[in-house]
Amino acid sequence: MKSLLHFFLFLIIIKLVHGRCDADDLSALLRLKKISPPPEAYVPPKLLSWNSSTNCCAWDGVTCSTDGHVIGLDVSGEFLEGRIDNSSSLFDLKHLQSLNLSRNCQVGNGFPIPPAIGKLTNLRYLNLSITCYTGQVPFAITRLTRLVTLDLSGNYNFGYTQLKLYNPDLSTLVQSLTELRELYLDGVTVSAWDTEWCQAISSSLPNLRVLSLSACNLSGPIDQSLAKLQSLSVIRLDDNDLPVPLPGVFANFSNLTSLSLRSCLVRGTFPEELFQVPTLQTVDLSDNPQLHGSFPEFPRNNSLQSLVLSNTKFSGILPKSIGNLKMLSMIDISGCSFSGSIPKSIQKLTQLVHLYMSSNRFSGPIDSIHWEKLLNLLNIVLDSNLLSGSIPSSIVSPPFLEKLLLSHNQFSGQLHEFSDVSSYLVTLDLSFNDLEGIVPLSIYNFRGLETLDLSSNNFSGFHFNSPQQLSNLSVINLSNNSLLVLYNGTTSSYSSFPQIVNLNLASNKLRTFPDFFRNHTGLAVLDLSQNQIQGTIPNWIWGLISLLNVNLSCNSFVTLEWPLTNSSGVSELDLHSNQLQGQIPVFLPYAGYLDYSRNHFSSSIPTNIVLSLRRNNLTGTIPGGVLEYCSFRILDLGENQIEGQVPKSLANCTELEILNLGINQITDTFPCFLKNISTLRILLLRSNNLYGGIGCSETNGTWPKLQIIDLAHNNFSGGIPARSLTTWQAMMANKDDSRSRARALEFPNDPGRAVVEFEYYAAITVIGKGLEMDLQKILTIFTLIDFSGNKFSGSIPKELGDLKSLYVLNLSSNAFTGEIPSSLGNLQKLESLDLSRNKLSGQIPPEFAELNFLSFLNLSNNQLVGRIPTSTQFTTFPKASFIGNKGLWGPPLTVDSKAGSPPPPPTLNGSQQNSGDEIDWDLISVEIGFVFGFGIAVGSLVFYKRWSKWYYKAMYKILVKIFPQLEERIGPHRRHVHITQRPRR
Ligand SMILES: *[C@@H]1O[C@H](CO)[C@@H](O)[C@H](O)[C@H]1NC(C)=O
Ligand SMILES: *[C@@H]1O[C@H](CO)[C@@H](O)[C@H](O)[C@H]1NC(C)=O
Repeated sequence: MKSLLHFFLFLIIIKLVHGRCDADDLSALLRLKKISPPPEAYVPPKLLSWNSSTNCCAWDGVTCSTDGHVIGLDVSGEFLEGRIDNSSSLFDLKHLQSLNLSRNCQVGNGFPIPPAIGKLTNLRYLNLSITCYTGQVPFAITRLTRLVTLDLSGNYNFGYTQLKLYNPDLSTLVQSLTELRELYLDGVTVSAWDTEWCQAISSSLPNLRVLSLSACNLSGPIDQSLAKLQSLSVIRLDDNDLPVPLPGVFANFSNLTSLSLRSCLVRGTFPEELFQVPTLQTVDLSDNPQLHGSFPEFPRNNSLQSLVLSNTKFSGILPKSIGNLKMLSMIDISGCSFSGSIPKSIQKLTQLVHLYMSSNRFSGPIDSIHWEKLLNLLNIVLDSNLLSGSIPSSIVSPPFLEKLLLSHNQFSGQLHEFSDVSSYLVTLDLSFNDLEGIVPLSIYNFRGLETLDLSSNNFSGFHFNSPQQLSNLSVINLSNNSLLVLYNGTTSSYSSFPQIVNLNLASNKLRTFPDFFRNHTGLAVLDLSQNQIQGTIPNWIWGLISLLNVNLSCNSFVTLEWPLTNSSGVSELDLHSNQLQGQIPVFLPYAGYLDYSRNHFSSSIPTNIVLSLRRNNLTGTIPGGVLEYCSFRILDLGENQIEGQVPKSLANCTELEILNLGINQITDTFPCFLKNISTLRILLLRSNNLYGGIGCSETNGTWPKLQIIDLAHNNFSGGIPARSLTTWQAMMANKDDSRSRARALEFPNDPGRAVVEFEYYAAITVIGKGLEMDLQKILTIFTLIDFSGNKFSGSIPKELGDLKSLYVLNLSSNAFTGEIPSSLGNLQKLESLDLSRNKLSGQIPPEFAELNFLSFLNLSNNQLVGRIPTSTQFTTFPKASFIGNKGLWGPPLTVDSKAGSPPPPPTLNGSQQNSGDEIDWDLISVEIGFVFGFGIAVGSLVFYKRWSKWYYKAMYKILVKIFPQLEERIGPHRRHVHITQRPRR
């Protein structure tokens, strides 16, 4: 009885709350429901309850007034399937006060907002964010004069043009909608210049609480007039162009909670009192490289939760009072210029989850901080600073810690045993420090570790090389009297970090092959390069089923342990610079990249995409048979003792891009059959005994992609065939297509490489004045013709002048005659030109004065006459560039005498060496090499200061072309860039 009464009461309450659904509204809603998809497809969950047999006021997402009119509709994120246009029944819901259609992209579907929206004149709340409406916002919207909240943000995707506020413009809009408290127009193109937008808003909307105009194409400063908006709580102006100092107005807003000015080009000094506003919760000023500032003392009463200042010029120290930010959960000040020590008081930030402070100048120790008190930390990112001292063992104690990056600092000494460790740690990067000694035992307790990078330290080994040795131990007594449960009888196989994917121990002092990862089948990347590991490469590593990328280069390995399985999935193996002997192992069926160079291998050649056997002891002839089904794209047999002829079977290598046979003892005529390999980019035949002409009159093949041809130091004779030159299109490229060329050389996407980012490079080794340099990536845009040291004769073909993107041309030490063609003056990118030691006559073409990039010129020891062209460029060349000619005069050979007096006699013949810091181009050799690894490894070049200045500059220029972001990155903001030093080969 009682329950029946309750039931009736319940019904009455329902009636009171919902009223009775208005018939017209019901019909409108049912028609609206029809835009949802057919029944068998996905039905939006809220619309499931929209059933004509029930009261529509009880439907999900529907709110009614007491008299049964629908006044609120919220179908946000329901993935409605149909478009809402002028004919939609939605606009019959005349009593609507609140409409939320957000996150329904089919609703707008790239069409304009329907003007019928103007019928809903009772609306207080309108949310059309992420509805994929586009084009001009209709005038009809200005009729919604009661609007308190208008959200049109996020409508700028799917390749359609975004929403625009041109007509009506922002002023017209806000003059009509004077009740607005919250205005979200993020991503709407607002055509407002200068301070127009500030003035429009501040004069019409004095009670505004939320101003969210990110990516609105605003291009004017923030104006003092905004000071009128005393109620502002949220200010979001990211991704606009506000290129002047910020006014101090914001600090007066007593209710300010959120200020976001990311990537706004704001300059000047940030008003620091803003950080002291007691209501402020989030600040994002990141990516404003001209914005300066520093931290004030933080007051005790504050609400700061998120402080993001990355990539700005904020500087100074972190004040001790940072410990007052009790609510702080996120601090990102990476890529700023902060200095001084990290104050101990940060241990009071118990709410802190993300700590990002990389790439600053923080110094001093961090071991007095009680890291274990920071119970909520997930990320500690302190890399690329000047921090020193020991690494505190408590730093891994925050129980949920996932990422710890301390690389590129000056931490030193031994690692102490870690007492409490986060079992969530996924990434531990201590690389590029001065840590030494044995890696502590407790490292095996990071059970979730996926990336361990200890590279570029001085670690000498692991406590127990193989944890299996510990299988009987369950408790280990640590020096600090704590007990560490490590292994537990049967669980021993789960010791250490079974999840490891990426293990980098390169550049340490390991002497034995670490084998604690023997059972870790998830390992994909193993880098043990540049250690002192001796003896045998164990064969169990080839059984690790996920292994893709193995770098064991630059050690002292002598043998590979047999038998070698041939089922390994390793796709990249670098064994270069060891002492491996005997037969070349052929056992990796999926390898696309193998570097066996600089070992003592003797013979047999595996088939892969890339093969480098440079600087081995290959002797005798190249066996023709191995090239029968050739799929090499790169074949590097340089610097061996190969004799005999160039094997004709190379013609089977129809995808060959790079061929290096340089520095061998091959005796043959020019391999004309290579002309049929149209993919060839780089051909290196220097320093062999090749002879005869290079005309190849019997082949029609061409080399449209050829970038580098080096035939130096052979016995080639005859003329340079002009006809061939006209087909070398890659050297003619007029446009600056260096990027696309760099891309074209990359290897095609191959699913097997998904985990390992395969980094290909071609390197030139420049030997000059005792310097040896590898230039990675340079070859990708480098162009060079080197025919020096042969017996070429005849005149220099004028067609050479068509090779407009040529960087280096060396025809020295031949028997060329006739005049220097003036067309060479067209080679506007030329940086080095050597025509010395020929029999060239006539004058230096005056066009040479225009060669602006020319940094090295040698015309010495010819029969040139006349005055040396005068230009700023020419005055920088030394005398040695011109000596040994019959009748050259003028600076720099002879000081210009007064007008009228006869030209002074030219200096005598001489074979004087080049003076100054110039590289002796006669000693330049071109080599090919490969590296694989992560990130960009260009540092060795960019920071190699000792290198001849001009070459440094020229190559830097090229690098910046390849990596336009480089300039920015190696500036003060080094965030996320790890410049790695590569081993010299
Ligand atoms: C700040 O917020 C409070 C509480 O919402 C409100 O009472 C007060 O009027 C606001 N101040 C201003 C200047 O708008
Ligand atoms: C040790 O092994 C036993 C049984 O094999 C298991 O119950 C116990 O949880 C293990 N202890 C640890 C610390 O792994």
